[in-house]
Amino acid sequence: MCGIIAYLGDKNSYPILLEGLRRLEYRGYDSAGIALLNGELSVYKKKGKVQELADLTENKGLFATIGMGHTRWATHGKPDDINAHPHFSGNNRLAIIHNGIIENYATLKEALTRLGHQFESETDTEVLIHLIEEFQNRDKLPLEEAVRKALNKVVGAYAIVVIDKNDPNKLVGARKSSPLVIGLGDKDLFIASDATPIIQYTNKVVYLNDEEIAVLTRDKGLEISTISNDELQEPVIHELDMSMDQLEKGGYEHFMLKEIYQQSQTISDCMRGRLNAIEGWVRLGGLEEHINRINKANRIIIAACGTSWHSALIGEYLIEDLARIPVEVEYASEFRYRNPILTDKDVVLVISQSGETADTLAAAELAKEKGALVYGIVNVVGSSIARMTHAGSYIHCGPEIGVASTKAFTGQVTLLTLMSLVLGQRNGSLSNSYYHQLIAELASIPDKVEKVLASNEKIKYLAGEIKNTNNTLYLGRGYNFPVALEGALKLKEISYIHAEGYPAAEMKHGPIALIDENMPVIVIATNVSAYEKIVSNIMEVKARKGIVIAIVTEGDVEIKRIADHCIEIPSTIDPLTPLLSVIPLQLLSYHVAVMRQCDVDQPRNLAKSVTVE
Ligand code: G6P
Repeated sequence: MCGIIAYLGDKNSYPILLEGLRRLEYRGYDSAGIALLNGELSVYKKKGKVQELADLTENKGLFATIGMGHTRWATHGKPDDINAHPHFSGNNRLAIIHNGIIENYATLKEALTRLGHQFESETDTEVLIHLIEEFQNRDKLPLEEAVRKALNKVVGAYAIVVIDKNDPNKLVGARKSSPLVIGLGDKDLFIASDATPIIQYTNKVVYLNDEEIAVLTRDKGLEISTISNDELQEPVIHELDMSMDQLEKGGYEHFMLKEIYQQSQTISDCMRGRLNAIEGWVRLGGLEEHINRINKANRIIIAACGTSWHSALIGEYLIEDLARIPVEVEYASEFRYRNPILTDKDVVLVISQSGETADTLAAAELAKEKGALVYGIVNVVGSSIARMTHAGSYIHCGPEIGVASTKAFTGQVTLLTLMSLVLGQRNGSLSNSYYHQLIAELASIPDKVEKVLASNEKIKYLAGEIKNTNNTLYLGRGYNFPVALEGALKLKEISYIHAEGYPAAEMKHGPIALIDENMPVIVIATNVSAYEKIVSNIMEVKARKGIVIAIVTEGDVEIKRIADHCIEIPSTIDPLTPLLSVIPLQLLSYHVAVMRQCDVDQPRNLAKSVTVE
């Protein structure tokens, strides 16, 4: 949720931290701050975007070879200068940055207040640094021991970095249920929430495991122990395959637009080595070892949040349709708390772009505890979910920076399609001819995505038509129902227009009451099956004077006659429709948001990666 970056080395940390915070800003952007240690321990922090912090600190000639920075998404305490991180200990000797929630902070605060501690902010984080200070002073402990002792008293989730004015050669980091990555350069050491701010300096990283403490020093480099004891662990070094241009806008005005336009490529990347249309086969390495267990499963449960939950719904349609295995879709946040019935005959798929969403991670842990096979569909390589599942497949979309998810959605749907094809072919649910038809069609999807993108100007024009509306309804049937949900979510997220997605036939049971001449209704009407039914739904909207924008298949005649506006997409077979029909909806929300002068890549109140409950 929040972004963390810390540096220890021989360079000036100030520009490194500022640049790092810019890269991490997609994780949270309520306020930002840095701490620099150069004789004095100085903290600069400011409400608002990283740019506000940059304006505050520029031309001050700041220099320090050790420092840390934080960009915040508020949980405890409103976003303002005081609640921004870093936070000082009472004696101003220590400073901390924190991502997560200290659940028992009120009890700890009370106890510390009785001992004479005074607090400036409303945050749980400040309580933690006072607790560390208390142990450091009372028990005369080195910093890492004081941190260890304090963390043993803490209930909650955290990724932290602590710095000590009296020890300018040391950074201490620790994590529980929130990610931290250590970067190992030749002469530089980094700690960050993810690899994006590190990659320009080194591709060697160590993922800190849950409940581990990392001590970074100038002489010994990285040492890892656990929160429960000081025995040293052997760090596992990974080499990252990520390039700088993946983290830049590459000439696009926004990351979201770049990511929408990347989709023909990212869908191909997801299929690379997994699908061969000429030889007519599909394979998924991660699936091979478990395929019999999955094909014999009582049911597959898919747990996810947000856009990934919409992919999960499409996954349900795909797996039941093509592989005939019963599927249930769950909001991860509900699933984890509702005491679900799970056995070792169940398979739980968890879908997550970031691989760090707290609720999805907890759902996966619960499923594992109950003996289910847990399979991850994840984008971020090395993320917590990717590392804790029994098996899984990466979607290989590259870093997604825009907070509203686009290319990860089509990557997840592509992966679920590949998975359904493998399962269905192996368990005999798919006829040979349909299997080969689907493979050939899936292979042609990247080219068809390009064709959809070519309608951008028309979609931009339609965005102008609806930009001033307050409400929008999205309707779809079958495979296009989850697409309607996703289209509505995109519009809400980035343009702040209220939007609802509905199964088209359900409109009669409520939303139809909202329809009048001011209500744009976006109908995803590309279905080969149920075409006549969706035509009737459009007629129902028109009869109430609603404004219909329909997504139709190239060459459509009937809907074009009744809808106010149509966007054509190339024809495909029903199970693959979402990969094309979602793209005009992504572009539509993008243009509406730009026209409304909204912050497309960093919409208000949202964050890319929700690592708190
Ligand atoms: C946040 C993001 C969404 C994302 C959701 C789930 O709400 O803003 O774009 O769909 O989290 O994230 P995940 O990384 O688990 O897919």
